[in-house]
Amino acid sequence: NKRISDKGEVMNKLEKAMNYIQNNKQKINNKYRMSFHVIPTIGWMNDPNGFSYYKGEYHLFYQYHPYSSEWGPPHWGHVKSKDLVKWDHLPIAIAPDMPYDSDGCFSGSAIEHDEKLYLMYTGHLDPTKKPEDIRQVQNIAVSSDGINFEKIKENPVIGTNMLPKDAKPQDFRDPKLWKKGDMFYVVIGSRNIDNSGQILLYKSKDLINWEFVNTIARSSNKIGEMWECPDMFEIGEKNILIVSSQFMKSEGDRFNNLHSSIYLIGKLNYEKGEFEHEGYYEIDHGFDFYAPQTLIDCKGRRIMIAWMNMWGQRWPTHENNHGWNGAMTLPRVVELKGNKLIFIPIEEIKNYRTNGYYVEETITNDFLLLPFRSFSLEIETIIDVSNATRAGFRLCKGKKEETLLYFDRNENKVVLDRSDSGEGPGGVRKTTPNIKDNKLKLRIFIDRSSVEVFINDGEQTMTALIYPSDESNHYEIFADGTAKFSIIKWDIRV
Ligand code: FRU
Repeated sequence: NKRISDKGEVMNKLEKAMNYIQNNKQKINNKYRMSFHVIPTIGWMNDPNGFSYYKGEYHLFYQYHPYSSEWGPPHWGHVKSKDLVKWDHLPIAIAPDMPYDSDGCFSGSAIEHDEKLYLMYTGHLDPTKKPEDIRQVQNIAVSSDGINFEKIKENPVIGTNMLPKDAKPQDFRDPKLWKKGDMFYVVIGSRNIDNSGQILLYKSKDLINWEFVNTIARSSNKIGEMWECPDMFEIGEKNILIVSSQFMKSEGDRFNNLHSSIYLIGKLNYEKGEFEHEGYYEIDHGFDFYAPQTLIDCKGRRIMIAWMNMWGQRWPTHENNHGWNGAMTLPRVVELKGNKLIFIPIEEIKNYRTNGYYVEETITNDFLLLPFRSFSLEIETIIDVSNATRAGFRLCKGKKEETLLYFDRNENKVVLDRSDSGEGPGGVRKTTPNIKDNKLKLRIFIDRSSVEVFINDGEQTMTALIYPSDESNHYEIFADGTAKFSIIKWDIRV
């Protein structure tokens, strides 16, 4: 793993990556860069990893390939924050530099133990570049300062020898750790020999010696195929299992992206390793939401963050050589309402509101340009749709571009249409809101190349990447029929 730098020094893979970042980060193009979302300084970012609260700060790691704006052998990038809005970039935490992770430090999670921060991640091994020879194993790296990590000598701590008989050694990844009583548990994504996805549960007293408990859930090739990036947590009496399911078949408005992140609600029997559950639900109804991971913080909040992107689509920052690609969503508090999850933006974002502007307008078969220009804002609105067939917003509007967000009464849907948003993949997504008293409540966040919509206090969310040109920073409301809008807008400045 030793490399020689331009100056002739011997460098390891981690130092080599840090050197590369240092020497090249000023070359990236800033056009589409976000300000209040986590994005890489340079290079490619995918899944959030190791999302945790350690010694009074939030830590977030991520799948990171600094050398290009395309996926490559992942390192773990690292940022930390005191409030989940302002993030500091830290040195890369781990690089693929050991025999048990030489082709990538794939996704995983973090947990505090004995005042140290433990990372568990998947070592990806692809020795011959033939798919059948791929192996994935689980490893541990430890830190006592939250910055410098050491891989332990016992790695891999869960090898392919600990798989149940019906599991393939090629797809065994993305461990998510938690503690219950004095026992550590981990859920890991796995592929059955019939190619379906399944979630394996292991337990340990010390994070090093693990024992297989059971296979707790299966896609059975009905709920998508392979299951990646599981997460398992408790809210009240319920256990929630999150999975990122590959190639889910679309069902009407649901599961229309290449892969889908979903949740299952039920009850986990820790002894038997059985998870009884009913139904499965899509987490986000937009385009760009995958591989979410959660933590619980000192205030007892269950907070979720996801990769704000999707595999297999057009990436304008990559196509145009901007030198970076990938972002995280706004962190969202997860709560259980009835038998469904709701998702609410972390309240800390309110500390960054500025230039507040309030307006109430009733319009009939008309549109109205709002008097602000911004690419970094929050809009909170209540639309009375009693007499409207269609009512909503033209966001990020320019001469030719607009991102449509509106309520359609005939279909009873909220529609997010990015067909004319600018560069990028386009497309339309819809979801059925729960309209009470004829009122639709929306919170909309725009951050240069992203839009996140929270519908009716988080009953649904719609997340999308958009790539409008610099002049498309206008906002308009419109109605077919009559609609009354109450709007508050703030700029978000970090
Ligand atoms: C999900 C995923 C994970 C894997 C990682 C590799 O997006 O495919 O299953 O660990 O990306 O970067």
